Formats: sequence, C-alpha cells, structure tokens
Amino acid sequence: MANTVILGAQWGDESKGGTTDFLAENADVVARYQGGDNAGHTIVVGTEKFVFHLLPSGILYPHTTNVIGNGVVINLETLFDEIEKLETHGVEVGDRLKVSSRAHLILPYHKVMESWDDLGSSLKLGTTARGIGPTYSDKMNRHAGIRVADLLEFDLFQKKLDFNLGAKGYILDQIGGEIDRAAMLEEYHGYAQRLAPYVVDTSEFMNDALKAGKRILYEGAQGTMLDIDFGTYPYVTSSNTTVGAVCTGLGVGLQAIDRVLGVSKAYVTRVGTGPFPTEMPPDLDEEIREIGQEYGATTQRARRCGWLDLVALRYAARVNGFTDLVLTKFDVLDHLDEIQVCVAYRRRGEVLTTFPTSLHALEECEPVYETLPGWKAPTVDARKYEDLPANAQRYNAYISEFLDVPVTILSVGPERTQTIVCDESILTA
Ligand code: GDP
Ligand code: IMO
Ligand code: MG
Repeated sequence: MANTVILGAQWGDESKGGTTDFLAENADVVARYQGGDNAGHTIVVGTEKFVFHLLPSGILYPHTTNVIGNGVVINLETLFDEIEKLETHGVEVGDRLKVSSRAHLILPYHKVMESWDDLGSSLKLGTTARGIGPTYSDKMNRHAGIRVADLLEFDLFQKKLDFNLGAKGYILDQIGGEIDRAAMLEEYHGYAQRLAPYVVDTSEFMNDALKAGKRILYEGAQGTMLDIDFGTYPYVTSSNTTVGAVCTGLGVGLQAIDRVLGVSKAYVTRVGTGPFPTEMPPDLDEEIREIGQEYGATTQRARRCGWLDLVALRYAARVNGFTDLVLTKFDVLDHLDEIQVCVAYRRRGEVLTTFPTSLHALEECEPVYETLPGWKAPTVDARKYEDLPANAQRYNAYISEFLDVPVTILSVGPERTQTIVCDESILTA
C-alpha cells in the first residue's frame, strides 16, 4: 500500500476517521500530524461506535503503530481518557502509541483564554472551546509554549507554568478562571509519569518506518476550508489542515507521500460560524441533518447542511494536489428526486469559477447550481460500484469529471463494511 494522506476536503467531519480505519487494515503506521481534540473521528464496527479526538484511527487494529506528531496539540486529560476507555474495552494501546516529544500541550488556562478572546471580540467564531487557538498562539509566540519534552523535565515545566500563570494572571482574574497551581502541578506530575513511556522523537520513528518500507497512513483533522491559510479566514481553525502539514507536523520529507486522498461528503456540512455558500434552506437542512445524523462528534452541535460545492472542492483539490477522492455518505441522498451541485458562483452579475479570498466577496456569492436526477433507491447494501443505481453512478462520475480526480472509495453507511472500493490499488499498491 502506498503511503497515503487522508485529509478533509470540506469543513471537517467528512469521515476521515472512518476512511482511515477502513484503510488501516492494510497499514502498519497511522499518524496524526495537526489539530488536537477539536477533532472528533467516528468509527463504527458492527454495532460498536468509537469516537477518537486524539488517538489516530488505526488504533483498533492490533497490528498498527499509531503516532501523534509534533504538529498536534495535546490535551493530556483527553488522551488518557481515550486510552483508558479503549483498554477497558479490551483494546491494548501499550507500545502501539508514540507521542512526539516536540508536540505542544493544551493546558487548562488555554480554555480560559479562549473564552476571554470570545468575550472581547465581535467575531463569534463558534470554536470547539478546546483551547486550540490559544495553544497554537502560545506555540508561535515562543515565550509561552510548553512542549511534551518540557513536561518530562518537570522543573522546566514548573518554571514555564509559573511564567504563564503570571503573564495570563490578569485575564484569568478578570473572568474568574483562576488556576489552582498546586493542584495543577500534582496532576501534571502524574501525567508526566504516565506519558513518558509513549514519548519518542516521532520524526526519527517515522523516517525509520519509511526506510523499513512500512505502509503509512497520515490522518488529517478538520478540513481544507478550515485551514489557517487557505480556509475561510478568520472562521477557521488555528493549524494548517492542508497537505503541507504532513511534512511539518511529522518531520518527514516529500518522498514520504505517495497519494493524497481528499475526503468529501456527497453534500457539505459545516459546524460553527462562517460563510457557507451552498447552505440548504431550513426544511431541507433539517431533513438532511436528521437522515445523516449531522451532529458534532466533539461538541454535539447541529451541523449546517448544504449542497455539494464543486467550486470549493476544486479549490481543495488544487491546494492539496488530490490524487484521489473519497466520497462519503452517499446513502443520505438516497431519497431525493433531484440533487443540486454548485458549479460556479454568481456575484454582482459576474460568474466566478474559483473560490474567492475575500469573505465579503464570498458572502455576496450566489451558487450557480446544476440539477442532477436523484437515484431514489437504497444504496446501503451496495458493496461494488456496479451495485449502485445508474443515477448514483452518474452523480459520482459527474463529480470526478468536474474535478478531474478519480473517486477511489465511496461509502454508503457508517459501518466499516459499508464501503465501496473503486480502485483496488489503494489497498495493495
Ligand atoms: P471525521 O471528523 O472526518 O472523522 O468525521 P466524523 O466522524 O466527525 O463525522 C462523520 C459521521 O458520518 C460519523 O458519524 C460517521 O459514522 C458517519 N458516516 C461516515 N460515513 C458514512 C456514510 O457513508 N453514511 C452515513 N449515513 N454515515 C456515515
Ligand atoms: P474533525 O477532525 C468540524 C471548527 C469549529 C469552528 C472552527 C474553529 O472532526 O473534522 P477550533 O476549536 O478548531 O478553534 O474551532 O473549526 N472545527 C471543526 N469542524 N470538524 C472538526 O474536526 C473541527 N475542528 C474544528 O466548529 O468552526
Ligand atoms: Mg469530526
């Protein structure tokens, strides 16, 4: 199997977790390279459902090693909670987890800082409230960031913590987010002991794995339209979610990547605030949300639903250089008479075929839709491309031709086996 990136082509929740789990059967290493526990990746195996926020989605297979790279921001409470839940469930994590010594830590005051930012700003970003923005800000700011390696040198951790509590003290006081220093030190001392066995230089680990010819999956979090540079800024997350983050978030070179899979739903969803040109009218939005069970895996918030936006998707294909597409949640559209796809935007009488930079421009864009016939038949039992109704095949072909990217995997239900592989080379080559 080629070394493959699995990343979100839309605004997140495209089923990167499900896709990673499906492909991990044939992989040796599964690595997360950015984001934190803002991610919520769902895997359904039989009647069991798992949601991972930090653990890579290969963890359910005992033959895989799972890596949390330097580009990820780690909330240790979440991490140990996930490990504990899995182990109680009979899935041994043990030395199958490797955590980067260079990854930055999300600390309790980061969540407080996030609510302070929210209070003081007219932008209501609608974040996941996991402290992601403040942690990446501290990392870039350099004075304040605390890394896994610092935690393992506990004196250094204590010094850096004191610096932060001093520097952020005014804000913590203002909104009553006071941190109990002694309790926090005790808690983090415990975490340091528990974390130490997992910590390695993950760049070294990944490069050794590459040299040994291991099969590697790189699992993205969030989606292209939430990228700090290429997304709908400022309504984005605080990391690069696009393909470049694989190299910077794991310490691997370009030759470490053979294929880039862009994962997209057969429609679009978005959680939180921000422009969304193809958002459906309320009735249809609600209908799709109920059928697709579009509620956030991290925050349980209702996801906004829209028609597939091929302008945005073509932009994502360009920014990431998709070699393959994964189209998920086909079954959610089974009942529709007609399906709309956005093929351009119209703004002030002008037709746009590329995704604009300016949010004001984007807000003024009206989608130009092409209407395709629905297939009006259940797809949930399809396991081969030929099992799909003719109009479902046509829908798939339309998307692939528009983007000039082949569709390699399709999913027709949340369960692991409800997957159609259109190009077997993704399993073997
Ligand atoms: P991720 O963040 O990209 O990993 O995606 P999420 O797990 O947040 O959201 C995807 C949701 O869709 C999960 O609840 C999945 O179980 C579900 N899902 C994935 N593929 C399909 C599919 O083909 N059909 C249906 N109905 N649900 C799916
Ligand atoms: P997965 O990996 C969907 C969204 C939030 C908010 C914005 C910024 O499951 O696809 P943040 O907490 O990151 O500062 O929030 O980004 N967001 C996601 N939306 N899926 C995600 O992850 C998301 N992670 C963040 O809703 O709009
Ligand atoms: Mg998700």
